[in-house]
Amino acid sequence: MAVERIGVVGCGLMGSGIAEVCAKAGYRVVVREVTGELLDAGMKRLTGSLDRAVAKGKLSAEDRDAAQARIVGTTDIGAFAECDLVIEAAVEKLELKRKIFAELDQVTPPQAILASNTSSLAITDMAAATKRPDRVLGLHFMQPVPVMPLLEMVRTVLTSEETFQTARAFGESLGKTIVVSKDNPGFIVNLLLIPYLLQAIAELEKGVATKEDFDTAIRLGLNHPMGPFTLLDFVGLDTTLFIADAVFDETKDPRFAAPPLLRRMVSAGWLGRKSGRGFYDYGK
Ligand SMILES: NC(=O)c1ccc[n+]([C@@H]2O[C@H](COP(=O)([O-])OP(=O)(O)OC[C@H]3O[C@@H](n4cnc5c(N)ncnc54)[C@H](O)[C@@H]3O)[C@@H](O)[C@H]2O)c1
Repeated sequence: MAVERIGVVGCGLMGSGIAEVCAKAGYRVVVREVTGELLDAGMKRLTGSLDRAVAKGKLSAEDRDAAQARIVGTTDIGAFAECDLVIEAAVEKLELKRKIFAELDQVTPPQAILASNTSSLAITDMAAATKRPDRVLGLHFMQPVPVMPLLEMVRTVLTSEETFQTARAFGESLGKTIVVSKDNPGFIVNLLLIPYLLQAIAELEKGVATKEDFDTAIRLGLNHPMGPFTLLDFVGLDTTLFIADAVFDETKDPRFAAPPLLRRMVSAGWLGRKSGRGFYDYGK
């Protein structure tokens, strides 16, 4: 099946990045937000990212203009009527995602593939909200999408071979390296990452070492680009807590039980870089 037109649901952190990489790869993109204001903010983020790529010499001004010309922003879900593949990147709430999938099932062509960028929710639950569960799968991009080379593909027991192969070819055409997971809570990356981050918080609570020393130990001892507390601030403490709770709720696996300190910090609004304060203080 030929994929030419891409729909993206949500123009937040991930949706804007996904729209950007698709347009840069030559696809025509329709990106949908819920309000004109949110759409403007998302398009501004997208344009800023393209401009930064030009400033760094990674993209020519002509290619930026061409990519921008391939993207249409809208608040109308009906605008997905001609899309071959729609990628949902709305907020991480299952009921909302199920509603979006049911709507997409109504407005997109019957052969279109519907994908979710969820970090932790079951793709099968979204597939079950449609009449085309064989054409539903997970396409889990990493943040920031234009920079991170990995794409996790999530295949449910209902995903057809044709859907899977078409989506794989699409992912490769974006220049991403693909790994494949079952529809298992946490998929691959978060299955390993979240218990590690939660344990780091629990050990900090016990006073084993300072956050600076944990970060230095992992950076210089294991050659990771950042230690756990810098990474937690980057990912977002609320996002980390949401994934931990979602996986714990489903599996009762104690490795995903969030330490009280994480929950308190999220309640306090210390969400990491995006709120100016997490484990570290980023000022304004
Ligand atoms: N932030 C990350 O590091 C990361 C990484 C991988 C995957 N994800 C996943 O990507 C998804 C989006 O995360 P994000 O970080 O971009 O969140 P975000 O809050 O930045 O963006 C979500 C956007 O979706 C919009 N939205 C909500 N309902 C909508 C609808 N019906 N139609 C169109 N837009 C709608 C919201 O207005 C918001 O702007 C989540 O499922 C998240 O788990 C996030």
